[in-house]
Parts: sequence; C-alpha cells; structure tokens
Amino acid sequence: MGELTIAKSAGFCFGVTRAVNMVYEAIEKENVPIYTYGPIIHNDEVVKDMEKNGVTVINDLDELSSHEKGVMIIRSHGISKAEYDRIKNCGFEVLNATCPFVSKIHRYVEDYSSKGYDIIIVGSPKHPEVCGIKGWADEKCHVTIINSPEDAENYMKNSTKKLCIVSQTTFNYNKFQDIVEIIAKKGYDITVLNTICNATEVRQTEARKVAQCSDVMIVIGDRHSSNTQKLFEICKNECKNTYYIQTSDEMDYTQIRSNNNVGITAGASTPNNIIEEVSKNVRNEL
Ligand code: F3S
Repeated sequence: MGELTIAKSAGFCFGVTRAVNMVYEAIEKENVPIYTYGPIIHNDEVVKDMEKNGVTVINDLDELSSHEKGVMIIRSHGISKAEYDRIKNCGFEVLNATCPFVSKIHRYVEDYSSKGYDIIIVGSPKHPEVCGIKGWADEKCHVTIINSPEDAENYMKNSTKKLCIVSQTTFNYNKFQDIVEIIAKKGYDITVLNTICNATEVRQTEARKVAQCSDVMIVIGDRHSSNTQKLFEICKNECKNTYYIQTSDEMDYTQIRSNNNVGITAGASTPNNIIEEVSKNVRNEL
C-alpha cells in the first residue's frame, strides 16, 4: 500500500496563521464592526468568508471617516507608525496582527534611528512590509531601500552617521549577503541585523524532499501565487507526476494507484481545510 506524506510546512506560516486566527477570534468576541487594513491574506476564499462574517476590508485610511467606529485589525505585513496613530486618532481600536518577526524590525528601526543611525532596508521598495518598516524610522534619520547589488553599488552615504542594515523578512538570504558585502566594502561603520524569516526556505526545502520520495506530488495554491508557482517548479523537477491545483475539485484522483507514494504541499496562503480535503480524497485511493 502506498503512503501519503503531507509537508509539515505546507500552507500558512506562523505569522499568517496568527493573523487569520485573530480575525476569527474577533468575529466571535467583538460586538462592534470589524475591519482589516487591506486583505488579511492573498486568498479570495478566506477573505470572502471573513466578509460573510461581517468583516470589512479597508484599503485606504481616507475611508475611515465614512465608517462606524470599531476594531481595525492590522495584517501580518505590519504598517507604519503614522498609519497606526492615524487609525487610533480616528477612534478605532487597533488589534495588531503584525507578525512578531516584523514587529521586531520596527523596534530595531525605531531604536537605531533614534540613536542617530541612518537606516538601510534591504527589500522591495513597493512591498507593504517595507513601506511599514520605513515608517518606524526617526524623522531625522535617512532611510534608503536597497533591492539589488546594483542599488548597493550605487549607494553613497551623505552623512557622517553610522548605518544600520535590516532586511524585509522574505528577502533571499544570499542576495542579502551580497548586498551587505558591497556596502561593507565602502568602509562605512555598519551594524547588520539579519531579519530574514526562514519560513519560505523551510517550505521549499521540505517540498523538494517530499517530492523526491513521491510517485505523485500535489501542490495546492492559488494560480497567481508566486510562492506556490515556485513550489510547483521545485516539485516538478523531482517528481514528473506533479499536479498544481487550487481546490480539491481540480484534482483527478483516479490518477493515483493504491501502491503510489503521494506527497502534498501548499503555498503560504492556502488554508488548512483545502489541504485536509485533498488529503482525505488521496487516502481514499490508497
Ligand atoms: Fe510568515 Fe512572519 Fe515569516 S508572516 S513569512 S512567519 S515573517
């Protein structure tokens, strides 16, 4: 008889699980309107389910005045201090679901910038997490966002201040090291804080291992999710019978033989109930 292996790291990471749970707990507990600042995760099914339960997504803080006061939940990416203060000053209660790994970066940036350091954030300038991190720096400090070794080569410090370097949590570790090395060679006085979270790397490494031992590999996640596409690529390289599905209905379970070893992994925004449903249907074939 074949075996089913479900990657332990499949689906939500710690920070996203925590944020989603906080929304559902608020739905249970709160008697006031509940809002999230931006969709809590990139998964339409989950966001729609929250909306069905009375949660409203606010995408722009200018909208606040037209809404009844209530609880505003901050998603795992976090927000800037100014946005945080603005929500509070508008009379909303803030429920902070910022991932603790991201909050730690906010504290570093607040702390070092207030001690007179300039800040470099290694990450993508348009990413909401990076915009949020930038917004914790002291006004007097100079913040630069560096996304590539080329940006690092072109970087020129225009003050005598020391430098503190942090990273977006999902930045590639090797690229971060390259960037730090380029800046270090310029002879500046730098403090490097590696704030990369390894959830993505752990998920990819485990997916590869599971796929290597599988006759059939199933990758579950949204078609547009870049981290799921990456998982699919990795698994397909190891197991030619790799399927990419969004929901259980998309899987042709008749492809599975009773003696097959089957592996399952899922992207970072795939809810557990879909993983469980697929697992149950696979078990029926083994
Ligand atoms: Fe997830 Fe938090 Fe890491 S949101 S990817 S556990 S930084």
